[in-house]
Amino acid sequence: MCGIIGYIGEKQAYPIIVNGLKKLEYRGYDSYGICVLNNNNVFLKRKVGRISEENSESEDKGFIGIGHSRWATTGSVCEKNAHPQEYNGFYVVHNGIIENYKDLKEELTGKGHQFNSDTDTEVIAHLISDEFNGNLEDAVRKALKRIVGSYGIAVVSPKDEGKIVIAKLSSPIIIGICADGHIIASDSSAVIDYTKQIITLDDNEMAVLRKDSYIISKEKKIETIDWENDSVSKGDYEHFMLKEIMEESKVIDSAIQGRLLEDDVKLGGLETSKERLKKANKIHLVGCGTGYYAAKTGEYLMEEIAGIDAEAQMGSEIRYRNVRLDSNQAAIFVSQSGETADNLASLKKMKEFGVLTLGVTNVIGSTQTKETEGGVYTRCGREVAVASTKAFIGQLTVLTMISIFLGRQRNLNSEKAKEIILELKNLSKKADSILGDCSKIEEIAKKYSQYKDFWFIGRKFNYPIALEGALKLKEISYVHAEGTPGGELKHGPLALIDENCPTIAICPQDSVYDKMLSNMEEVKARNGKIIAIANIGDEKVKEIADDVIYIPKTLECLFPILTTIPLHLFAYYLALSLNRDIDKPRNLAKSVTVE
Ligand code: AGP
Repeated sequence: MCGIIGYIGEKQAYPIIVNGLKKLEYRGYDSYGICVLNNNNVFLKRKVGRISEENSESEDKGFIGIGHSRWATTGSVCEKNAHPQEYNGFYVVHNGIIENYKDLKEELTGKGHQFNSDTDTEVIAHLISDEFNGNLEDAVRKALKRIVGSYGIAVVSPKDEGKIVIAKLSSPIIIGICADGHIIASDSSAVIDYTKQIITLDDNEMAVLRKDSYIISKEKKIETIDWENDSVSKGDYEHFMLKEIMEESKVIDSAIQGRLLEDDVKLGGLETSKERLKKANKIHLVGCGTGYYAAKTGEYLMEEIAGIDAEAQMGSEIRYRNVRLDSNQAAIFVSQSGETADNLASLKKMKEFGVLTLGVTNVIGSTQTKETEGGVYTRCGREVAVASTKAFIGQLTVLTMISIFLGRQRNLNSEKAKEIILELKNLSKKADSILGDCSKIEEIAKKYSQYKDFWFIGRKFNYPIALEGALKLKEISYVHAEGTPGGELKHGPLALIDENCPTIAICPQDSVYDKMLSNMEEVKARNGKIIAIANIGDEKVKEIADDVIYIPKTLECLFPILTTIPLHLFAYYLALSLNRDIDKPRNLAKSVTVE
């Protein structure tokens, strides 16, 4: 999973490549590399570390270049494994996985090839070299026939200079048409500073780009991108993550703006699917990581509010299962980036079975928005930190509105719909009150920062929030954390509870409140420390818990939006105490574009 970019034209390639890689860094940031050709001279740079630290102002290097931002899949993080990978004057950047690389490597080694890296990508350069007969695109075409796996590649060579050859199978690649040449990239965010005219390559397509022309195997439509790269800065915040958590109340307002009626919701992106949704007998909610936890919350919301059979699915699992799928069902894909490969693969499968596919997506123009038949934008603005926070709040808000939409098509009565809608309008103020007083959460996080294991519990709507709290903590603090429904503790995890394993109990005054109190007592009886999330003024929780974080009251189905906020802050401040690399935690990437 990586970002690739290339430029050929009248301008210096190097600064364009560096600028593009900075936009693509969310796809991987363990190492990067750039190769620029200049009349048979090759400038090659490969470095471990982040492209964001690279200066794009540099001396003239040439007008043709490719670049890569890496998230290691095959081969450890080191300079020799960074891309471009090279063999015999053929330079390749690659996003994807070559599944048969070991067999190919063995075969090529037998023929006398020497390999310099541990990557799967290097075999592509070797194969191209093997097939080269004076024409780069012919060699690439033949080489790709021998490959099993996924790829978005860009290839250059001083042996056939004046062109960039690109190809795609299951990894995205687009061409930007500029006034001065062509730019290619894994996604449009990297080209939008130079052009709004793009062509999206389809699977099994190849293209040859020259300064003033391009050839693709078949005629393609030029699309116009109708959005801008929103420029983002940390402002006065130390980290993007804190800034983004602080935007969580604003995100609620932005998600509901213009979408709430008196006793119904107006979601433009669902208009054309209205009739099919009315008839749908099951909703699949598909996501990964935090997106999956939003989907899981959506499952509870849809069952409760809409009275429809709903089931959350992990994008990485559903495609391999024999779940019964048919055209009377709908699938809602929940994703911040809209580029998560596991989701996109499941989307393809759902479509094959005739399931209506919809998206709850943040990034405008992303692959998910193009591949689904409709959907709702979360409107959170750009999320930069790898740990997803405000996007989750946006997803919960949108899923609540979709539940109302589905409910009104079924048995949700006007009074109940009005009640939820009214409270949705008040929710950002309540979220603000939590965000406005986070010193207590910071203090508690510091107090517990030396513990190595944490347990998160919640029930019903707050069970997925326990999972989200645990994921956020492990992701940015590298501390072990797990989430379970409160009722499951006694079925096993209680064995792990002692004075060294604190439990974070999400315990608002809802229909499972008493059950949660019992679960907290079970923990206490085993000497476990308890940090509780409870409603303001709750004396019962105060008596049981060691520390309490208070939140305002709301409707049961809206509690997840409020209970999440302290958990995001808790993870942030605990990671801060441990001095972790909060915005770019080790081993991760913002968008996971490999399966
Ligand atoms: C969340 O903090 C993670 N970084 C990760 O689980 C993320 O939510 C997941 O990879 C899905 O990403 P998406 O929302 O862009 O599809």
